[in-house]
Amino acid sequence: MRQPFIAGNWKMNLDRASSVALVVQLAELVAESSGEVEIGVCPPACYLEAVGSVVIGSEIGLGAQNMYHEESGAFTGELSAAMLLDLGCKYVILGHSERRQLFGETDASINEKLKAALAAGLTPIVCVGETLEEREFGQTESIVETQFEGSFSGIEEVDMLKCVIAYEPVWAIGTGKVATPDQAEAVHAHLRKVMTNQYNSEIAEQIRIQYGGSVKPGNAEELLSQKNVDGALVGGASLKADDFAAIIAAAKSSK
Ligand code: 13P
Repeated sequence: MRQPFIAGNWKMNLDRASSVALVVQLAELVAESSGEVEIGVCPPACYLEAVGSVVIGSEIGLGAQNMYHEESGAFTGELSAAMLLDLGCKYVILGHSERRQLFGETDASINEKLKAALAAGLTPIVCVGETLEEREFGQTESIVETQFEGSFSGIEEVDMLKCVIAYEPVWAIGTGKVATPDQAEAVHAHLRKVMTNQYNSEIAEQIRIQYGGSVKPGNAEELLSQKNVDGALVGGASLKADDFAAIIAAAKSSK
């Protein structure tokens, strides 16, 4: 039985005061969710500490949106896994499509980050997903498979079990165009098959696969009730405490 995991990716939004206000409100709304659903918030790096001071000891875990794989050194503008841990992070999102498309991240660079995140003890949320063009050319399965294999290259079973995967079709991110529950379920099931082939079925059955892309209170329950959809990575709707709490409630009632 995989525990549903709902994480909010705030991207480059909000300011300090509104970040704190959002998480204070969220903490109140989810106070009695009592461990049924794992909850994470990933604010901009500059607000990790402020948000972390609110969620400490609560149901809500703190996550970063990115990191660099080196431990320290002359890497202007970057943050290491140890720095994120130091700020109270439990999670780190790796290989988000915006990082792949706008900042040149590749499966190889994501693999380096993944190894560093695991070595430091962070829980990585590794994103995969196809573009609209790739979907229209019937390449969805092969694209996510290639991304999975490249990102997870050399990851041992024991480390694989510590990872979370997020399937985020690029065409559904921030567009309001959500994947249908059947489309999401088909890709999630395929990813589980890929993990079965790479590792084994016991491992594949334990790994949580979140869906991301225009998840809202109105579509969350149907998506989350799919057999292989184990949670959501939420962008826009995670910026409103009521909406994010409603998605968490949907995760609870759909399992
Ligand atoms: P939206 O929920 O805004 O579509 O963003 C999804 C996403 O990219 C989460 O990482």
